[in-house]
Amino acid sequence: MTENTQKPKANTLWGGRFEGGVSDIMEKINASIDFDKILYRQDIQGSIEHCKMLVETGIITNEDGQSIQDGLTQIEQEITEGNFEFSAELEDIHMNVEARLTEIIGATAGRLHTARSRNDQVATDFKLYVRDACDQADEALKALQIALINIAEENADVIMPGFTHLQSAQPVTFGHHMMAYFEMFTRDRGRFQDARKRLNECPLGAAALAGTSFPIDRHQTAKALGFDGPTANSMDSVSDRDHALEFMSAAAISAVHVSRLAEEIVTWSCAQFNFIQMSDSFTTGSSIMPQKRNPDAAELCRGKSGRIIGSLNSLLITMKGLALTFSKDMQEDKEATFDAVETYSLIIAAMTGMVEDMKVNPEQMRKATDLGFITATDLADWVVRVLGLPFRQAHHITGSLVAMAEKKGGDLDGLTLEEMQTIEPLITDDVFNVLSVDKSVASRVSFGGTAPSEVLKQVESAKKRIG
Ligand code: ARG
Repeated sequence: MTENTQKPKANTLWGGRFEGGVSDIMEKINASIDFDKILYRQDIQGSIEHCKMLVETGIITNEDGQSIQDGLTQIEQEITEGNFEFSAELEDIHMNVEARLTEIIGATAGRLHTARSRNDQVATDFKLYVRDACDQADEALKALQIALINIAEENADVIMPGFTHLQSAQPVTFGHHMMAYFEMFTRDRGRFQDARKRLNECPLGAAALAGTSFPIDRHQTAKALGFDGPTANSMDSVSDRDHALEFMSAAAISAVHVSRLAEEIVTWSCAQFNFIQMSDSFTTGSSIMPQKRNPDAAELCRGKSGRIIGSLNSLLITMKGLALTFSKDMQEDKEATFDAVETYSLIIAAMTGMVEDMKVNPEQMRKATDLGFITATDLADWVVRVLGLPFRQAHHITGSLVAMAEKKGGDLDGLTLEEMQTIEPLITDDVFNVLSVDKSVASRVSFGGTAPSEVLKQVESAKKRIG
């Protein structure tokens, strides 16, 4: 049980009006330092730029500004080198840094917080963090796209069954199937790029919520921190967490794409399908069944995507009941976002590795097209094209031919012309030209279609589009 003892002293950074300290439980529920310490670089960068601006606007002296900046630089080094002692009593990264600055340079440290609040400070730090996360996601997705392009190009003419309802539908090429995922990840990159554009306004200088009476220059700090400009409304600035929500929405959608590919990898790599073989780097064995080769990395990509969706939900639910402006509930934004960023980066890296290492079994894929009367649509299209019948009627004739082949125990091209003519007397020998999977695939030359020639066009266009 946690002891609910009273701390003897009030907090030195905000405790002016307090007589006693907080209880242990209060300290525990209040502290975010265990997780927000990863924002130290952003926090110090923001403070340095704020300090420079305070000097340039004459709000603090050059001398004080210099010693604050030197102190902050020293603290950054201490944290980077692991020589910094974080304290839960000091709640968060902002107060830990400021307290240490006071130790190093004395009371002058207190001037840094002029015209600033932790509310605009944390919003700025967090935006800088999410902005980096968007850039990293974009880069990681590009690497995954390159892996997909490569495997698609190598397998542009490898024929496999295409499925709907996980039933054999029409023959497609493996390259085509891989390029479908390329498109999903292109849209994902667009979402991260959009989110980045929208978040790139700087909240610093919004202060607690109302702005400040000091003659600050918000344009200067915004520019120095790489933002397009300052946020337009100080109340929105400190209460907005859309950047994290947008990042996680984009990550959740993208994780769903990863999860679908992971699901296919799991299916394709089982002995019954055997379409692909996963490399040793991304599989594990079983402690009891020596023959096993488990696609754990794919399963974990599928599993972890749920966690990212959960993080998005968690922050949406946190935000939905909050009146303007800042409420401490918002401190809950961080663990969800940090976890989503890390989990997302891990699953994209794992998926990239899996695609790069994947061995394709073209014979098995082709063999699988022997099942399921996969060229039935080609037959129906032939009836329309050559015999001039309406498609609905052609569909019906083909259905009867499939039933006949099924009864006979073979595929459609195992029927003789005479057998076919018992169903539709006008059918000619020419029909056998469309019943092979090669011809079926080669005929799908519509824009974006599965013919190898089209897949190679998609690959060429993809190479240009990845940027
Ligand atoms: N640790 C807080 C957070 O993560 C910083 C902002 C605190 N502001 C305040 N008024 N208590 O959101």
